[in-house]
Amino acid sequence: MKPDFIILAAGKGQRMLGNQPKVLHEVGGIPMAQRLLNTIHEIKNSKTIVVIGDQSQKVKNKLKVSKKTAWVKQKNQLGTAHAVKTALSQTRPGSIVVVLYGDVPLVQSKTLNKLLKLASNKSLAAITFKAENPRGYGRIIRSSRNQVEAIIEEKDASKAQRNIQEVNSGMLALHSSVLKKLLPVIKNKNAAGEYYLTDVVGLARKSGISIKPLLLENPSEALGANTPEELQELERACQRQQALRLVGAGIQVADINRIDVRGSLSAGKGSFIDVNNVFEGSVVLGKEVKVGPNCFIKDSVIEDRVTLKANTVIEDSRVGKGCILGPFTRVRGGTTLESSSELGNFVEANRSKVGRSSKAKHLTYLGDATLGEQVNVGAGTITCNYDGIKKHKTKMADNVFIGSNTSLVAPVSLGEGSYTGAGSVITKSVPKESLAIGRARQSPPIKRKKKK
Ligand code: UD1
Ligand code: CA
Repeated sequence: MKPDFIILAAGKGQRMLGNQPKVLHEVGGIPMAQRLLNTIHEIKNSKTIVVIGDQSQKVKNKLKVSKKTAWVKQKNQLGTAHAVKTALSQTRPGSIVVVLYGDVPLVQSKTLNKLLKLASNKSLAAITFKAENPRGYGRIIRSSRNQVEAIIEEKDASKAQRNIQEVNSGMLALHSSVLKKLLPVIKNKNAAGEYYLTDVVGLARKSGISIKPLLLENPSEALGANTPEELQELERACQRQQALRLVGAGIQVADINRIDVRGSLSAGKGSFIDVNNVFEGSVVLGKEVKVGPNCFIKDSVIEDRVTLKANTVIEDSRVGKGCILGPFTRVRGGTTLESSSELGNFVEANRSKVGRSSKAKHLTYLGDATLGEQVNVGAGTITCNYDGIKKHKTKMADNVFIGSNTSLVAPVSLGEGSYTGAGSVITKSVPKESLAIGRARQSPPIKRKKKK
């Protein structure tokens, strides 16, 4: 089968308020139309045609597409049927055409494959769902024998028809030859003065094509967003969908209503995600990772058996197997932590490498630092990496021990097994296996004067 997907993304989205093209509004951190493109990518032999119009260049620049994508421009937005017509020349002969609306982004490839199976040169398939509040959607008109007869847009519906709860998702599939035959017949004599694609259903039925509805049990895949309020609901539905996917893959999620994935998150079996975590960009969690409450993780890889305690923030970094971070640790700037290393409360690591089993457990800044294995960094240690103009590097070889409250004035290196006295300001490199102390000596005791 050759499925041709047409994504309608030309509309102005006036009801959304603001100036952004509607299909670029993000849901779960990804533009709505991009979600559809990603989903179509999972379907075999698919071709995609994106209909753009309003701020077309902006839409084109923002969306990442595969080679099998064609763009067509709809100059004037005369309605959804008119939009599909502009894409017709790009469809392949004998294909099944699936129309998707750029503002209905949560459909899954499994559902689209089901839809495709229902369509042929003798049948048209359409996804419908029952909406608690059907406002704004086209209503599905069924005959007394429960056959789908037509779709009536809300503006054109009678009072009785408006009470119908089964609505049109907008997603439909039909043979390209049927589409080519019926599109020219659609008129714009309706309340909106638009060419409605939904009219194709009634017309198909009249010409002997059977209508096969795919009534979704879970309507979240078919929700659309015309207004900022609907966008909010779509966001929640998207988050719930992603959380349930994690749960289905063997990940324990403390509360599926309190997790936000703004991009893509994958996690290995046996991992646990506590409440109020935000994952942004591309995040990979290994197996048996524990994420405590209130963490923020962006574009990072967290390997197997890592424990992230509450309020850990990680950006653009890699955390090796078995590391323990937090509470209140911040890791960023391409930092890598080798296995079993530990960073504790109020420790920041930036553009640094931390070797296996090394530790900095309290109140420390590691900037442009390279730590070997089994290094111990005492509380209150600071790498003074910035002289106001340039950044400089600090190197600590294996088994270095840094006394509490040491300032390491970079560039500086500490040889294997060396150590520093607490409160030192280290400005010169330290040879291996030696102690460096750089602090004022305590004066002999001075007798305290008595109050008169
Ligand atoms: C549409 C359906 C309605 C359905 C609902 C589902 C029609 C006539 N109505 O209504 O039955 O229940 O979606 O969410 O199809 N677009 C273009 N060019 C145009 C007009 C629209 O590309 O000339 C695009 C829009 O950018 C949008 C999509 O088509 O992505 C749907 O248009 P919209 O105006 O949002 O239709 P609805 O009123 O939501
Ligand atoms: Ca819409």
